[in-house]
Amino acid sequence: MTRHFLTLLDLTPEELRGLIRRAHELKRAHRRGEISEALRHKVLAMIFEKSSTRTRVSFEAGMTQLGGSAMFLSPRDTQLGRGEPIEDTARVLSRMADAVMIRTFEHEKVETFAAHSDVPVINGLTDRFHPCQLLADMQTFFEHRGDIAGRTVAWVGDGNNMCHSYINAARQFDFHLRIACPQGFEPDAEILAEAGERCELVRDPRAAVEGAALVVTDTWVSMGQEEEKQRRQVAFAPYKVTRELMGRAEPDALFMHCLPAYRGMEVEAELLDGPDSVVWDEAENRLHAQKALLEFLLA
Ligand code: CP
Ligand code: NVA
Repeated sequence: MTRHFLTLLDLTPEELRGLIRRAHELKRAHRRGEISEALRHKVLAMIFEKSSTRTRVSFEAGMTQLGGSAMFLSPRDTQLGRGEPIEDTARVLSRMADAVMIRTFEHEKVETFAAHSDVPVINGLTDRFHPCQLLADMQTFFEHRGDIAGRTVAWVGDGNNMCHSYINAARQFDFHLRIACPQGFEPDAEILAEAGERCELVRDPRAAVEGAALVVTDTWVSMGQEEEKQRRQVAFAPYKVTRELMGRAEPDALFMHCLPAYRGMEVEAELLDGPDSVVWDEAENRLHAQKALLEFLLA
């Protein structure tokens, strides 16, 4: 049966932990200069309906490093942009490529694609979820601090796609998540409810970070929300993550951000560029974690 990776719930907790271990091994092998041919001649098709730096480069570099290749497809230059149905595109691409990665707006689109694809489909970000980023974030936490099970994580800011994926991660990796967001910007109630007592919604960012081993935020204005920028900047102003706020978390708490970051908005520049921040490791781990994912789905 074809496996897809549309959300973190598509893999079991054991499979996810296996991926994190494998990602760490692949990282060390890469540093030693070892050559892998695990995905020799395999092709990953990548559809990007939104901008990307990290996702595109990490998937493309990852496929090359495993002996395969990746192709970049944008709606502007494919028939998708001229209205060819997603179902037909899925049928065609899955006869030519060995896997498909999609970054788009509606999450339903990746679900429809997967339903009509004979090859694995990977969610490279939708308005609802960003599961690949969580593989990298979990790898980064494990590398710096060991197992995240039983620890407390604070999400400060928008109840967006990244927040939803943190909720799923809390379920799968067994940690406690405290979410601090302004009124009207909460995560989806159903996604939150499914996580049960592991996830808690609070208003005050200071209450959220109390005792947290990891503090995470994201842009206040996600792709597709550009018109709401003014309104969002006002609503989110009290939710900026600063060194002062970090001081209320555990003494060795880490700071993460999926990037791109807006210094002086959701995060203070001195925190992002300071010693508590592991954002560059987090970005690098996109490469290693997704190589582990590609091996898992394809090899
Ligand atoms: N974090 C992340 O997905 O970055 P890109 O938008 O650059 O791919
Ligand atoms: N929440 C952000 C993440 C970018 C990687 C967005 O959807 O634009």
